[in-house]
Amino acid sequence: MSKVPDSLKPFLKEVSASLREKTYQKLILSRPLSNNEQVPTKVTVRPVLIQEEIHYQWVERVGPRELHQNLSADQLIQRVPSILGTLLGDARLFTSEAEICARYKGRGHFQMHRAKSQSLGSEPEAHNREKNYIIPPNEPCPFLAKAGIMSADGRVKAPMYHKFRQINRYLELIRDLKGTLQKPGSLRVVDYGCGKSYLTFALHHYLTVVEQRSVEMTGLDQRPDVIATCTAIADELQLTGLDFRVGQIVDLPIEGKIDLAVSLHACDTATDEALAAAVLREAQVIVAVPCCQHELRPQIRGESLSGLWKHGILAERFAADVTDALRALWLEQQGYQVQVIEFIELEHTPKNLAIRAVRVAKPSRESIRLAKERSQALKELCGITTTWLDRWDEQQVSAK
Ligand SMILES: C[S@@+](CC[C@H](N)C(=O)[O-])C[C@H]1O[C@@H](n2cnc3c(N)ncnc32)[C@H](O)[C@@H]1O
Repeated sequence: MSKVPDSLKPFLKEVSASLREKTYQKLILSRPLSNNEQVPTKVTVRPVLIQEEIHYQWVERVGPRELHQNLSADQLIQRVPSILGTLLGDARLFTSEAEICARYKGRGHFQMHRAKSQSLGSEPEAHNREKNYIIPPNEPCPFLAKAGIMSADGRVKAPMYHKFRQINRYLELIRDLKGTLQKPGSLRVVDYGCGKSYLTFALHHYLTVVEQRSVEMTGLDQRPDVIATCTAIADELQLTGLDFRVGQIVDLPIEGKIDLAVSLHACDTATDEALAAAVLREAQVIVAVPCCQHELRPQIRGESLSGLWKHGILAERFAADVTDALRALWLEQQGYQVQVIEFIELEHTPKNLAIRAVRVAKPSRESIRLAKERSQALKELCGITTTWLDRWDEQQVSAK
């Protein structure tokens, strides 16, 4: 890499500091230095969470195309001087504290300018939605501080804003159904595939602090390391009625009925496991946000769909939609009333769909028959011979 001009170094230091201190919000590089159509006209870099790790999504506009690449913090720091001052002339760094600009003036010289941020401590472009959040920003919340989403004084860390919004949105999906959960005594709640348990802790906070309910909550995950960490956090924060267990979703030895089953981004067929386990425990309410989907994609064939499956990305999206439609129809066959709704705007995650189901006391035979017929017709159309939930049903029948 060519030598970084001295006058650019202070700007790069600001970028590094914002990444290190987690105040980074966005970086924009613009003002092409030539008319060459093959070089980028603009670059935008935002933090994204991938598998619970922060990456920096470098989106480069070249003519009508957009090229996407996910970088580590170190890669981002190295990439900026390779383009700034050679291909693009302006840089604007947005942090939760300030807006810092660098402008290329020619002959290897940059001028830097610093202004106080307009959106101190809040997500860029978040409008006023945050005012209505169930867990508001700028109010200290111990588990969010412990999870690294907020600072101790309640400020949401810029790269974690996405997770913060996701948590609040999830709580809204549950709050909408609080009338269904109005029973006396403790609520029994299970989070299937809880991972680092942002959601489990948030739900515990919502139910016990906001709604003042007593709970018996279990977070379940197959990974002993995350369960050990979550147990330590629950102990340290002295959270009552909350435990964590290591295990496979379908093997969880929970006796009796549960009131609320949740599952956020449980990978692939782990969402099916969560639905099956919840139905087995006669969960009154189920809220599941599916994750990646791999099971049905290889099965989907059929000449009438050839226009779809010849394009990988369309086949993938279609397979995910068919999977979720079949999940919804399966739940209806189990006597649930089901809604498939938007979880969070697509710009934040492709995993933006939530399945919300409420157990019906006396489901009509007609609605169960209709769901079965629709499921069969959809499978025939797509050439699907078996799903995880079909095999689960077969196992349950043969176990009787
Ligand atoms: C993508 S993470 C999501 C974690 C958390 N719910 C969240 O949204 O932050 C999926 C989690 O599901 C767990 N998982 C996947 N399959 C599982 C299974 N069959 N039984 C138990 N846990 C499972 C993984 O170990 C992982 O921690």
